[in-house]
Amino acid sequence: MNAHARSSVSAHAAELRRLLRHHAHRYYVLDAPEIPDAEYDKLFAELQALEAAHPELLRPDSPTQRVIGAVREGLEPVAHVVPMLSIKTETDTSSAGALGFDAAVRNALKLAPDAPPVRYAAELKFDGLAINLRYERGALRQAATRGDGETGEDVTHTVGTIAEIPRHLHGVDAPVLEVRGEVFMRRDRFEALNERQREAGAKTFVNPRNAAAGIVRQLDASIARQRPLSFFAYGLGEVQGWEIPPSHSALLDALAALGFPVEGHRAVVHGGEELAQFHARIAAARDALPFDIDGVVYKVDERALQLQLGFKSREPRWAVAHKYPAQEQQTRLNDIEIQVGRTGKLTPVAKLEPVFVGGTTVSNATLHNLFELRRKGVRIGDTVIVRRAGDVIPEVVGRVPGRRRGYVPNFRMPKACPVCGSAVVREKGANDHRCSGGLFCAAQRKQAVLHFASRRAMDIEGLGDKLVDQLVDGGLIDTLPDLYRLDVATLAALERMADKSAANLVAALERSKQATLARFLYALGIRHVGESTAKDLARHFGRLVRIVDASVEQLLEVNDVGPVVAQSIHTFFAQPHNREVVEQLRAAGVHWPEHDGMATPGAPQPLAGKTFVLTGTLPSWSREEAKAAIEAAGGKVSGSVSKKTDYVVAGAEAGSKLDKARELNVRVLDEAALRALLEA
Ligand code: IVH
Repeated sequence: MNAHARSSVSAHAAELRRLLRHHAHRYYVLDAPEIPDAEYDKLFAELQALEAAHPELLRPDSPTQRVIGAVREGLEPVAHVVPMLSIKTETDTSSAGALGFDAAVRNALKLAPDAPPVRYAAELKFDGLAINLRYERGALRQAATRGDGETGEDVTHTVGTIAEIPRHLHGVDAPVLEVRGEVFMRRDRFEALNERQREAGAKTFVNPRNAAAGIVRQLDASIARQRPLSFFAYGLGEVQGWEIPPSHSALLDALAALGFPVEGHRAVVHGGEELAQFHARIAAARDALPFDIDGVVYKVDERALQLQLGFKSREPRWAVAHKYPAQEQQTRLNDIEIQVGRTGKLTPVAKLEPVFVGGTTVSNATLHNLFELRRKGVRIGDTVIVRRAGDVIPEVVGRVPGRRRGYVPNFRMPKACPVCGSAVVREKGANDHRCSGGLFCAAQRKQAVLHFASRRAMDIEGLGDKLVDQLVDGGLIDTLPDLYRLDVATLAALERMADKSAANLVAALERSKQATLARFLYALGIRHVGESTAKDLARHFGRLVRIVDASVEQLLEVNDVGPVVAQSIHTFFAQPHNREVVEQLRAAGVHWPEHDGMATPGAPQPLAGKTFVLTGTLPSWSREEAKAAIEAAGGKVSGSVSKKTDYVVAGAEAGSKLDKARELNVRVLDEAALRALLEA
């Protein structure tokens, strides 16, 4: 290599180091990253490759050589007696990642090819921040962040507000027991937090991890108290006078027994194939988890083998993180379009250069509202960060600075609704722009019909957006009850409809008439009445008339119903045309069980305090129906099996949840047994 090439490689390495330091500072110190993790990882890998090819460029202070993380001013530094290390990351999201790790372990242990498979503890890789909890003689003394691995920050004041972290460990008198795990924010809480921030016109958080890190590292504990965080334990730090269990799986059992939250999807598996199966199984469950994960972690289960394997350049040889596709990516914002929602809200929608994020290709993402868009400084042509996690609609969470070329004007909201031409208004103090056209606006009518038909509402299969477009544009549907006046002949005459599909839709409409009060309320699309509020209303009032006639004061008595929601419900039923819609729907045959089996005050609650998990297909009940019945009897239905699960209700083709139930000795019921329990 000539002198010129050498100096340009060295300049490139210096530039990469500078960029990595800048972004690490944004991420670790400010909790405000400017680029997605995947982008950071790319830069990191590039520098690593460069340093490997040109060892003379390697510096001890290179970001590749040390765990980055600094102590925030105002927080006390904490020296970790046992350093908090990171684990090797396998970014190949195929099964090769799992097989490669198993091969490396077998190799390092010098196992013969015919030696039995290695036993692993497999668990989720939580996307939060690592915390060390120090207990002395069983009492929580200190909580600290990881920092650079050697020195973290004292965050006892904020982490101490997390309700699920035990303050005292019963029966533990060890001088020192440090428990490590992840503090994170559940996705629904994150969404609610951002929704509140948006409504207040305040800064939103990019993702749950940044929200959690920002809250934990606040100087003021009162903020942490209002913004509930969660915790899962997954390891140990310093230990004195406590017998460490002989395997990782036994350690997690012991931690759970001490009262620490331990996540329920963990499993003990044997060999690389089973690791790969675990990776695939969790990939399928990822969207339905209530929190973000960015991969799974495999750990050699047996402690003796862990000790034998030891460490290589500050990473344990006995553990690896096997990643999933990133939930944040950057891409180009090609255009901004306006979408008119069910309640008339105008949402700016980003038209993106298609990008693979969170496991699917995304080309549209919400920008929420004009103020949010302005605050983030997003303009057409920018490089933006897109996030898609779980069932949440993909959103643009920010823009990557420093990429704009030339002048681009700020986006403006239209003065007239792009669908119906009605005036666009903004209520005083509100951040949302709305079309004033009401149900005159075809967009609002279409959205109202789609919502009514959606799975969690009336569940009318086959009523998709193309069909609703035709029905509304063709004047066949003006109000919801018109749906039940559709007949096979009319439907079959529409584009892309045949006799068969028309007959299926009419049958689906017929089926949908058998509803529950909660579903019906939700289906009406009353502003601020989501699924859970609808359930609360049904449970509280038991009968529709009582809700229709309820005063604001009476509505306020319902669990979780505040003034805004109460007013919205009251206003809805005060409108004569809304009452008429309700009447006509009932006249069309929409009905539900009187009192709806929902717990009316005083109704028996045979399943109170019991937690159920449903899996597989039941012979006669849909999952929604089984869930409604359990909840009506006071039980809870959860998505995943853990030690806290009382019963797993299993139908045909039940999968891993059933295995898990057997593993944990959770009682398994079939539909008949569930019915018997309900009648008890
Ligand atoms: S074990 C020596 N287990 O990933 C092994 N880490 O790079 C220590 N993480 O900082 C870590 N879920 O914040 C472990 N189930 C899990 C994890 C996990 C998330 C995070 C943790 C750590 C990073 C490792």
